[in-house]
Amino acid sequence: MKKTVIITGSNSGIGFELAKKLISENYFVILACRNRNKGLEAEKILGINSKFIEVDLSSYKSIDAFSNYLRHKNLTINYLVNNAGVMFHPNYFLENGINVTFFINYIGYYYLSMKLIDLLEKNNNSKIINISSISSYSVKNLDWNFFNPKNTNNSLKYKRELYSYTNLFRLMFSIELSKRLKMKGFKTKSIATHPGVVKSSLGRYVWISKLIYSLPILPPTIIGIKPIYESISNQSLKGGEFIGFDTKNQWKGTPKIVEPNPICNNDNLRELLWGKTSELTGINL
Ligand SMILES: NC(=O)c1ccc[n+]([C@@H]2O[C@H](COP(=O)([O-])OP(=O)(O)OC[C@H]3O[C@@H](n4cnc5c(N)ncnc54)[C@H](OP(=O)(O)O)[C@@H]3O)[C@@H](O)[C@H]2O)c1
Repeated sequence: MKKTVIITGSNSGIGFELAKKLISENYFVILACRNRNKGLEAEKILGINSKFIEVDLSSYKSIDAFSNYLRHKNLTINYLVNNAGVMFHPNYFLENGINVTFFINYIGYYYLSMKLIDLLEKNNNSKIINISSISSYSVKNLDWNFFNPKNTNNSLKYKRELYSYTNLFRLMFSIELSKRLKMKGFKTKSIATHPGVVKSSLGRYVWISKLIYSLPILPPTIIGIKPIYESISNQSLKGGEFIGFDTKNQWKGTPKIVEPNPICNNDNLRELLWGKTSELTGINL
């Protein structure tokens, strides 16, 4: 029987390429995208083994509606790939009062995972895959001002730091989630991964990054999906791993379990992050 994978932000870039690969390997893919036209267009290209379902990862209400819809339809979900993300987005606060980049890149991952865990748990070998980035390595000392940030600074330097922090938080979350799932006797595994650096629309909000992320010297998205595909298909993974590449700078290569930023190995910091996130979102495992 086909396994069903939800991929957030799968109308373009890495998410779309991953959907294509999974469909070719006999999976069914739910395209969890915010833009109806783009989502339907992706569904049209990917064919009958894909289905677009609208979800805006910057809104609690939209994530609630999405998970209620899946529940109502009694859909079988085997894998959730948290992939949607933004980089160097204009720095402002959403209706829910939370910084836009922080919400889409981190809170959305946490909140959607908590909302779908019971559906995933119904099936053996289910996994939550959290996309992170090599930018997570750039944080040296954890500054908690980047958690639910109140800063209105619109400089590129600040946005770069915020992007790195959201990727570090995704990774810490993924490892802590794995620990908690095991402790509570859940079967679902949590695995973090990153795509290296590949061409995509990620740089779209700033002209210089838009240019860089479209350069022909950057690897294509098909290279970036390798570690993500490995995270899904490798049944020997136990949960809690970080899958990157076997090269020094990890821009590309062969998928391999890699060491995360040492901050991620600090139990106290991960627990603190979990506590702050569950308090902010009002939802826990
Ligand atoms: N490209 C890289 O080199 C690289 C490296 C490390 C990590 N990553 C991570 O990989 C992930 C995918 O990035 P990408 O490179 O494929 O960039 P991309 O082509 O810009 O794709 C990002 C996807 O996220 C979606 N998205 C953004 N905000 C959303 C929201 N509020 N609700 C639902 N979907 C939303 C976008 O939808 P719209 O089209 O509607 O905006 C798009 O489908 C990101 O999390 C990024 O941080 C990328």
